[in-house]
Amino acid sequence: MDNLIKKAAKELAKSKRVVALTGAGVSVESGIPPFRGKGGLWEKIDPMEFAHIDSFMRDPAKVWNILIREMKDIVDRARPNDAHKGLARLEELGILNMVITQNVDGLHQMAGNTDVIEFHGNFAWQKCLDCSKKTETFKISLDEIPPKCACGGILRPDCVFFGEMIPAEHLLRSRKAAYECEIMLVIGTSAVVQPAAYIPVAAKESGARIIEINPESTPLTGSISDYIIKGNAGEVMKAIVSEVEILL
Ligand code: OAD
Repeated sequence: MDNLIKKAAKELAKSKRVVALTGAGVSVESGIPPFRGKGGLWEKIDPMEFAHIDSFMRDPAKVWNILIREMKDIVDRARPNDAHKGLARLEELGILNMVITQNVDGLHQMAGNTDVIEFHGNFAWQKCLDCSKKTETFKISLDEIPPKCACGGILRPDCVFFGEMIPAEHLLRSRKAAYECEIMLVIGTSAVVQPAAYIPVAAKESGARIIEINPESTPLTGSISDYIIKGNAGEVMKAIVSEVEILL
């Protein structure tokens, strides 16, 4: 692993056009469980029953009680870990241009990254189903479930549920970033959910180097990615950034 960390640091230190694609694994060390694999959320609950827009519209109280209430507790407490901080440092050093994240926890922005595409939306905001007004999640009382807007409409997280489109501006900007980057860091994603999983493929098609950081192999490993650094995102990113700082 040490050799691959040194190799990645060397490539990053030479580049000014780096984009990161992150998934739930980047926030595991912040105490947020992933969706798939050991301890994953989708092992406990069926995403089609609780994270599909049709399920929410059919029974918002059920989805609030089982999924959203727990997410609110976890996300409220979470703070950036060494992986988020490492990406923020790479931006500060002029190496990383953008983070595309599938996460809705806002931890990349909290760590200091300034250009973050939240591909699946953001849990920091709730949107009224009737008037579309947005309210910050931390301001919402859970005394009444589902929580309501001042107008009386039901609130929903400003996230992409299964069965919903990714906002077009996110699709277009992500695709452009993928085509223009020299290196794509793919961190903590199982790379099985489309269209996010296509982003590294688009980067590869345009000649970018793809570096994965993940304790497990993914469908990208050995085909789309040039190599995988098998380890936890926080530990690996901290080591990479230390090496980059020596090289600059
Ligand atoms: P997943 O839960 O599918 O995958 C998490 C990945 O993180 C796995 O590949 C793990 O091996 C890896 N991992 C676990 N711990 C790690 C650590 N400490 N450091 C680095 N990697 C670690 O999460 P995503 O790929 O983000 O969508 O899932 C994609 C989408 O599926 C989510 O955005 C969500 C979900 O359904 C929606 O809800 C629309």
